[in-house]
Amino acid sequence: MDKYVIRGGNPLVGEVEIGGAKNAALAILTAAIMTDETVVVDNIPDVSDINVLLEAISVIGATVDRVDRHTVRINGSTIGSVSVDYEFIKKIRASYYLLGALLGKYKRAEVPLPGGCNIGSRPIDLHLKGFRALGATVTIRNGVIYASADDLHGAHIFLDTVSVGATINIMMAAAMAQGKTVIENAAREPHVVDAANFLNSMGANIKGAGTDVIRVRGVESLHRTSYTVVPDMIEAGTFMFAAAATRGDILMKNVIPKHLEAMTAKLVEIGCQVEEFDDAVRISAKSRLGKTHVKTLPYPGFPTDMQPQIGVALCLARGTSIVTESIFENRFKYVDELARMGATIKVEGNTAIIDGTETLTGARISAPDLRAGAALVIAGLAAEGVTVIDDIVYILRGYEDFDKKLRDLGAEIELVSDEREVQKFRLRTG
Ligand code: UD1
Repeated sequence: MDKYVIRGGNPLVGEVEIGGAKNAALAILTAAIMTDETVVVDNIPDVSDINVLLEAISVIGATVDRVDRHTVRINGSTIGSVSVDYEFIKKIRASYYLLGALLGKYKRAEVPLPGGCNIGSRPIDLHLKGFRALGATVTIRNGVIYASADDLHGAHIFLDTVSVGATINIMMAAAMAQGKTVIENAAREPHVVDAANFLNSMGANIKGAGTDVIRVRGVESLHRTSYTVVPDMIEAGTFMFAAAATRGDILMKNVIPKHLEAMTAKLVEIGCQVEEFDDAVRISAKSRLGKTHVKTLPYPGFPTDMQPQIGVALCLARGTSIVTESIFENRFKYVDELARMGATIKVEGNTAIIDGTETLTGARISAPDLRAGAALVIAGLAAEGVTVIDDIVYILRGYEDFDKKLRDLGAEIELVSDEREVQKFRLRTG
């Protein structure tokens, strides 16, 4: 099984090119099957979640042509089935977007209940409530969601909880419903805006994405487009906190600084230097980090997908910090792994109380999920000695060339597949 082996202690210094946003690309590539014309999407990250999704849409019959590592050409006219295979679905949560896309286009979808990261119970009741409001009949039998409608019609939908997935999914189905849909209490994440911009570039009529009221006027059909996915704010944020935790100095290139504001504000608060450019951000940390309190919130609040990364940085800060997770209930699984590295963290309900320590020490640990896994890599980079991280398959779901990008910044990290290679790394770097 693949693992990362890391010899920590080097401050990360240099420049890193940030890729396209995984979560935006998942929505966009699914929406691309809603037209029978050819769609070209570029700046897609080459990560396993994206590759699994592309396989899933090609298995239902769409023509998927990988033009190059970051560009794909999709044609949905060849789709022969609205029934999606469980093999793909169990691996990625975003497979739920196939419901909205197929229902919108064909008025019928059969999609197994999704899998994905185990970061808490992740209901999709709001997605289904939205489809029902648009006139679909939705049932769940034998682990499969069946949605169908004679005709979808616009509706006024109030989301009880701010949900990225439900907002995008309902927006997709509504894009091809008859009449006008209003989604209230919509999510405002950059990937919601990106998915709306993409649909509009195919001829949809969506207004208000980026605010909490989205208005969709349904259209009969969608057409060809070429589209570039937005930069990944979570990949950028992960490198920003890697700079902080290793007391390094990194320039993140190809980012939208506005999307990073919740993170840059916290980095300033804990004593980092932040410089913003048009499409780049530089973070440097010259001295030991300071403590803070942080609570995850929907955008533009501090992202839940960055909670483990800031948690790791705060393990090394002076004083006691408090991290509150308000989106998912099971996002502190990395805490036990960090304790093995010498961190002092107490979790009470949805709050982690972190007593900062001067140094972490390398240990044998496992990645519990995607973002927590990335955070543990940061811990390993900041720690003294060697850290071996198992179960990195989670990390590969969302970070392209993570080890290479870190090596280019001066990290000693390698992706290895067995114990012999771990020993060789220890010898070589020791
Ligand atoms: C997306 C992101 C994920 C990120 C999360 C929050 C993708 C593929 N994943 O996940 O990386 O952590 O947004 O920014 O884009 N909820 C319900 N009922 C529903 C849907 C959601 O109660 O039908 C609740 C969830 O349990 C959670 C909250 O709403 O507490 C937010 O979840 P949501 O924004 O939907 O997350 P995802 O779209 O699954």
